[in-house]
Amino acid sequence: MADLSVTVDGLKLPNPFIIGSGPPGTNANVIAKAFDEGWGAVIAKTISLDASKVINVTPRYARMRAGKDILGWQNIELISDRPFDTWIEEFKQVKNKYPGRVLIASIMEEYRKDAWVEIVERCQAAGVDAFELNFSCPHGLPERKMGAAMGQDPEILGEVCGWVNAAAKVPVWAKMTPNITHIEEPARAALKAGCEGLAAINTILCVMGVDLKTLRPEPTVEGYTTPGGYSCRAVRPIALRFVMECARLIRAEFPGRSLSGIGGVETGDDAAQFILLGANTVQVCTGVMINGYSLAKDLCNGLSAFMDKHNFKTIDDFRGHSLQYFTTHADLVQRQAAAKAAAAAPKPDGAITKDTQWQGDKFVEQTEKLVSNQ
Ligand SMILES: Cc1cc2nc3c(=O)[nH]c(=O)nc-3n(C[C@H](O)[C@H](O)[C@H](O)COP(=O)(O)O)c2cc1C
Repeated sequence: MADLSVTVDGLKLPNPFIIGSGPPGTNANVIAKAFDEGWGAVIAKTISLDASKVINVTPRYARMRAGKDILGWQNIELISDRPFDTWIEEFKQVKNKYPGRVLIASIMEEYRKDAWVEIVERCQAAGVDAFELNFSCPHGLPERKMGAAMGQDPEILGEVCGWVNAAAKVPVWAKMTPNITHIEEPARAALKAGCEGLAAINTILCVMGVDLKTLRPEPTVEGYTTPGGYSCRAVRPIALRFVMECARLIRAEFPGRSLSGIGGVETGDDAAQFILLGANTVQVCTGVMINGYSLAKDLCNGLSAFMDKHNFKTIDDFRGHSLQYFTTHADLVQRQAAAKAAAAAPKPDGAITKDTQWQGDKFVEQTEKLVSNQ
């Protein structure tokens, strides 16, 4: 059986599957459940210092289906509405109960150095193993210049990462927004400012649809809506593209930094694709909301079966393998022209490949070259 364990930024995980920040890591109870079910690590729901500013609405989800299958999921949920002090107590409880497991705090604050330094210092004093900086929530908090609003501004993001890295004694990952044209720009700013790794992607800003009976867009709250974040299977191709771009940036400019792939993972085969494109770990959020925490076992079994099929013994045996097959469109055209020319050309030994190559004065010689039992 393949070895699924990974060591990333010094953190030892039994497998690469991490609960992505969101409802599946929203309190100590569910975090414990995730560890009991075998998840490699948990990233808790994003927290800030003042939860009283966080006010959620209901309903806050809308789904895209194909028959019974859920393909896409919109949420207009904010970060955690639970008090910061409660979270600090729960981080301590979880680390006491699961000292060997990896607990990562997802944090988000306004553009104020003292706020970022305070949240980092208090969380690490509570024992968290790493931080993920949420620069990517697309709704609600950008109105306070938090989340994606910060993640879309490489200069501000770099400055905030600098504050965090100066205060943090544990690894720091910057979680990137996909709601941007060139993810390399904020990603480079985060890595230049000393972050150990990147995580990509958060949700994609979307409008799920309009109810054709009521003519109201969904999810409808008191008759109105606001654009939300799209996740689940439908976003996987977009996530893979962003992960590929982050991986290429890391290889070219920041070798050794880490990458956590996120977006639409529900099977071991899905995860294998993120790893083939350079991810060290793979996060799952909506997949847990649909399938429950026991999904960890299916993911491990699926990834292990993929590895056995290819005779890969460890995750590092194939991490980033498929990056070499990306090139430009112009290069694809050239490669195809070269392949066609090679197919049409006579074989090096002069054996003919097409009937037009037969020549009267070489006919017997050419025939000889086609005989297998010379
Ligand atoms: C209901 C919901 C709440 C989420 N809340 C957070 C959050 O608090 N912080 C965060 O960084 N990402 C949050 N996310 C984004 C996920 O962590 C993840 O980046 C995204 O959903 C794509 O992965 P998935 O397809 O596996 O869900 C949330 C996603 C959903 C669906």
